[in-house]
Amino acid sequence: MADIQKLLAQMTLEEKIGQLMQYNGNVFMDTSAEITGPMQQFGLTEADLGRMGSVLNFASADEMKAMQDLHLSKDPHKIPMLFMMDVIHGYRTIFPIPLGLGCSFDPALAKECSQMAAREAGASGVQVTFTPMVDYCRDPRWGRVMETCGEDPMLAGHLGAAQVEGFQGEDLKEYDHLAACVKHYAGYGGVEAGRDYNLVERSERELREYFLPAYKACIDAGAALLMPSFNSMNGIPSVANPWLMKKILKDEWNYQGVVISDYNALGELLVHGVAENEKQAAQLAFQNGCHIEMCSSAYLHHLKELVEEGTFSEAQIDEAVTRVLELKDRLGLFDDPYHGADQQKAEALFLCPEHRELVRRAAEESAVLLKNNGLLPLSEDLNRVALIGPFAQEQGINGFWSCCGRDEDTVTMAQGIRKLLPEAEITVARGCGCQWDDRDTSGFEAAVQAAKNAQAVILCLGEPQTYSGEGNCRADIRLPGMQLELAKAVIDANPNTAVVLFHGRPLDISGLDEIAPAILSLWFPGTEGGNAAANLLFGRANPCGKLDMTFPRSIGQCPIYYNHPNTGRPHWTNEAKQQHFASDYIDCPTLPLYSFGHGLSYSHFVYSDLQVSSPVLTAETCIQVSVTVKNDSPRPGKEVVQLYMRDPVASVVRPVQQLIGYQKLAFAPGEEKHVTFPVTEEMLRFWNFEGQHTSEPGTIQLMVGYADHFLLSQHIEYRA
Ligand code: BGC
Repeated sequence: MADIQKLLAQMTLEEKIGQLMQYNGNVFMDTSAEITGPMQQFGLTEADLGRMGSVLNFASADEMKAMQDLHLSKDPHKIPMLFMMDVIHGYRTIFPIPLGLGCSFDPALAKECSQMAAREAGASGVQVTFTPMVDYCRDPRWGRVMETCGEDPMLAGHLGAAQVEGFQGEDLKEYDHLAACVKHYAGYGGVEAGRDYNLVERSERELREYFLPAYKACIDAGAALLMPSFNSMNGIPSVANPWLMKKILKDEWNYQGVVISDYNALGELLVHGVAENEKQAAQLAFQNGCHIEMCSSAYLHHLKELVEEGTFSEAQIDEAVTRVLELKDRLGLFDDPYHGADQQKAEALFLCPEHRELVRRAAEESAVLLKNNGLLPLSEDLNRVALIGPFAQEQGINGFWSCCGRDEDTVTMAQGIRKLLPEAEITVARGCGCQWDDRDTSGFEAAVQAAKNAQAVILCLGEPQTYSGEGNCRADIRLPGMQLELAKAVIDANPNTAVVLFHGRPLDISGLDEIAPAILSLWFPGTEGGNAAANLLFGRANPCGKLDMTFPRSIGQCPIYYNHPNTGRPHWTNEAKQQHFASDYIDCPTLPLYSFGHGLSYSHFVYSDLQVSSPVLTAETCIQVSVTVKNDSPRPGKEVVQLYMRDPVASVVRPVQQLIGYQKLAFAPGEEKHVTFPVTEEMLRFWNFEGQHTSEPGTIQLMVGYADHFLLSQHIEYRA
């Protein structure tokens, strides 16, 4: 335990401000010669290296130790630096992208995956991860949608909290745990037109209802750090936004952790046009509670001056520095500045059988069987299988933000299927039929020939991993290049064609959906993708993923999301069907292609007997809602039983459906289960027009099924 107040009393103002700086690890590479490159770019001096509080991005435990040693040799107080990194969906052994993992509807699995990532990253010298990202998003054009947990605030909050718990464990001092940084606060997923870094203009009610709950869930789970987002929120970039940073984060939520800016977000206050110069940027961010500045130098160059001229008191600086030092203390860095980093230990963990097994299971649980006319599962007795499409033997299936994951570590589709069917003839069509995004169709002939010669075809389509992630937005979310045309030619040649999709966002696959007998979405599955796919296609694993984000029929429907508020002319009423003036399109159905919560199985689940323990709910009582679910098939399988509600009359317009409970359960063949959900008054609360989080008396509809397609429904009465 360090005596932080004693330490503070010994530090100069410059040294304190140093604790609030963060730069890339490569600034430490400049030291021996004269100052060039990264140090020069940020205006750093040699002395700053001894004062620096934290670093992001570095290659290994050995590199981290060398930087820590160099820093400590220059720091008279011997305060270790914090080492941070984006460990998003694995460090070296990679599990599915978060949007994929969300389809598992399995926070326990997300926690296990985070624990695994923490083991590998911790041994590699990482002490803080910039995870979880819980930006609420409804727009698949936005490239960063792959980092989110989808369009339901409650599910995203559960998955985010599970990641915090998995990374942080009980005690940050333990070497297998890291501090987690929830991001990007707030509303980044609401960027206009789905374009990265664009403005976000949202009503307070909408923010509180949809966008803020998942950050709050992560804070409640103990997230040690928080990162404000790049975007302007209702006119002011988040890091300088008093409504977000002071009113909500500080005053309402009483957040006690460390706030770190996003990369150069203080520099961007000038570009946004809300700060005239670096000094004003420093003032705006600091006064709104940003403790660490990442990769710009407004604090370094101006915070001292702002104290000397009386804008801030030294006590305010002390408060910020105390938070940073306390985090270092919680991590035990004053006793072990490496936090157990050990290159050899890390290398033994990377891709070890247990980690591979976990990420394969995660990939299987995240896959969503979108469509199946009975073709899947394929028989293991097949002798001739053709693999066609740009992902047939592609190694780039980790997805964006895969940290130290390497393409060469991944199991490709061809490898996975050859391993599962060692005796069969598995042919990869020459040239795979076509590449992702060129217009060249010269490979079609070989693909058609391969399809004709095979008993079944596995057609591996999608968008490359660089088409999603930060800065990778798309205005057209259909399959790029000639892939749809390839699919037409191949399915024509052999109707026994199952499509496997790789993607970082919901795609517009309407054209494909019309012709493909079966479609299995793998998202970007990670290191064990090919093995997971083979197990799923041949029935050794039974698909159980459910969509955490809606698949539109067309980009023109976007943003489209299941939990949208009602309109005065909903498209589904009889009146609307009979008249022209309804909330719909004249050239496209209103409903999406695949709704939130959709996902097929090789088992067949039958729902019956939806019951409520009482028709009346009060503020003091709890109703039990039960439903019988039967696996009416000879295959074991898992089902995510989903409970939705609707509040048809309230003082503000309420969503047409809202998820209030889910349970993922395993069923033996023929097994029947009575599934029970509690319903309390708290679940009915919403933000009313006066800005109160409240419930109102009246009828509530409860539904079981999935969004837009409920199977059973019951009404209860809420009496205040
Ligand atoms: C991203 C953050 C990330 C940071 C550090 C930024 O560009 O927006 O999500 O944590 O870089 O790598």
